[in-house]
Amino acid sequence: MSAIPALSVSGLRKSVPGGRLLFDGLALTVRPGEIVAIMGESGVGKSTLLNLIAGLDVADAGEIKIDGGDLSAMSDDQRTILRRDCIGFVFQAFHILPHLTLAQNAALPVLLSGGGEAQGLSRARALLAAVGLEGRAGSYPSELSGGEMQRVAIARALIHRPALILADEPTGNLDPESAEKVLTLFAQQTRDARAAAVIVTHSDRVAAVADRSLVLTAQGLILRGQ
Ligand SMILES: Nc1ncnc2c1ncn2[C@@H]1O[C@H](COP(=O)(O)OP(=O)(O)OP(=O)(O)O)[C@@H](O)[C@H]1O
Ligand SMILES: [Mg+2]
Repeated sequence: MSAIPALSVSGLRKSVPGGRLLFDGLALTVRPGEIVAIMGESGVGKSTLLNLIAGLDVADAGEIKIDGGDLSAMSDDQRTILRRDCIGFVFQAFHILPHLTLAQNAALPVLLSGGGEAQGLSRARALLAAVGLEGRAGSYPSELSGGEMQRVAIARALIHRPALILADEPTGNLDPESAEKVLTLFAQQTRDARAAAVIVTHSDRVAAVADRSLVLTAQGLILRGQ
């Protein structure tokens, strides 16, 4: 196991613009190959926590390290590069671009970081096949179901071999059967790539594929069932 955690959070404090404190002293460590589920009531701050980890929002205090790099010690430009190179995202609303083919969508992180187009597209085709979309690389998102779209999002999240994958309710708008398939693929691909993943979810089935399930409360993250 690598000595460097994929994600290490300590002493994290965040209050919302109105002044209400969401959490303080929050700590979380996720190692390469580990999948952690974060649950908790609506409005408790789960998406806010993911945004902080992604460097899209700024904490009041605390430290966030991704693959050993300290977010707070970075400039905006450095944070952007870290986000692009070291993090993969899977969001509820997919963010799949309609005018690009599935392969182009999946290859986007590689193309954005100036990687080779041919190589990016070839890896995209391999990943699309791995998530059950073999032969669909040239299709457009309008030809896909919700579950298929989410599988494209998983391929895209993995394509640049990120150290950390952040997923916010990745199966939130899928039927139970598609959700199950997408989840199994997500867990398998994440573990194969030795990436770490943090999945925010309301679903027990999602939590069941995780190595650890934590609940975010006003008192911080607590191990589920305790
Ligand atoms: N820009 C903002 N200004 C004021 N309050 C905000 C702002 N953004 C978020 N909040 C508040 O912060 C709290 C946490 O929001 P967040 O989206 O992180 O919750 P969540 O745990 O992801 O909820 P859900 O399960 O419903 O997605 C909420 O009470 C929300 O109203
Ligand atoms: Mg949320």
